[in-house]
Amino acid sequence: MANQDLIQEIQALKKERNAVILAHSYQRPEIQDLADFVGDSLALARKAQEAQCDVIVFCGVHFMAETACILNPTRTVLLPDKEAACSLEQSCPEEELAAFLEENKEKNYYVVAYINCSIGVKALADVIVTSGNSQRIIETAPADRPILFVPDRNLGAWTSRKVGREMTLWNGACHVHERFTRDKVLEMKEQYPDAEVVCHPECQEPIRLLADHICSTEKMIPYCKESQAERFIIATESGILHRLRKLVPNKEFIGLGFEKCSCNECEYMKLNTLEKLRNCLRDMTPEVRIEEDLRRRAEAPLQRMLDLSL
Ligand code: 13P
Ligand code: SF4
Repeated sequence: MANQDLIQEIQALKKERNAVILAHSYQRPEIQDLADFVGDSLALARKAQEAQCDVIVFCGVHFMAETACILNPTRTVLLPDKEAACSLEQSCPEEELAAFLEENKEKNYYVVAYINCSIGVKALADVIVTSGNSQRIIETAPADRPILFVPDRNLGAWTSRKVGREMTLWNGACHVHERFTRDKVLEMKEQYPDAEVVCHPECQEPIRLLADHICSTEKMIPYCKESQAERFIIATESGILHRLRKLVPNKEFIGLGFEKCSCNECEYMKLNTLEKLRNCLRDMTPEVRIEEDLRRRAEAPLQRMLDLSL
């Protein structure tokens, strides 16, 4: 079926189901263009919480749809492909974190969890952060308790340096951002000497050290708009390039490739397609469901983050 027909079908089903479509900036361009709202994890969490309609179709990965369920439990939350996982989430299993906290009880850790984690990990955390607010949230952490930051060692190390506060870092990472190499940045800088390098804090330190600016996906938009530069090498998942090109049309955006290929895609994010989006609205499945007691425990640290980042 041609995209145009699918889009029309999705629009009609959206009306019939009284649904809203939320999409992360790493989604395929055609999904971004069709969505009611496109944003980063923080903005999407807020949108999901405010949603008044019966159905939220979350075009992103599972932990994002789960977050929508936690924050707005009376809505039906659909995820077009139920296999849309996240390697960062997988790098911190709930049982391992629970065992670590039990073994280190005497330390009385203040647990800060990056939103890219499971509901079980969120329920064990004191507060949640996103890449857009990690500094602000860590600044409010109690001064008399050591901080344990999970699961992303890269975002944790970057935030720790920015805020000037020591933290114990969980040894997790995103497999997409970890594939960027220093040599590739240097090669592209040589190829485009006038370009600024903008990178996501999920990148490793050698990449961060070469970057002109480090920020969350959402903050890349105002940064590139306001910068004097006309060209940018973007070190994060390729989906953001569509958004940058659309919102900052007078400038050039080049995605940083991996070492031996120019692709820089998150295969989980790309599992969602127009066809699966149509199918999930038509069949009302896959639906993300969570258990109420766990939901309440995960809601508290999430709400703390939302209140602190206003
Ligand atoms: P942000 O949307 O918070 O920038 O995070 C990027 C990411 O990797 C989401 O999976
Ligand atoms: Fe997870 Fe990395 Fe994909 Fe983001 S880009 S969803 S952190 S695997």
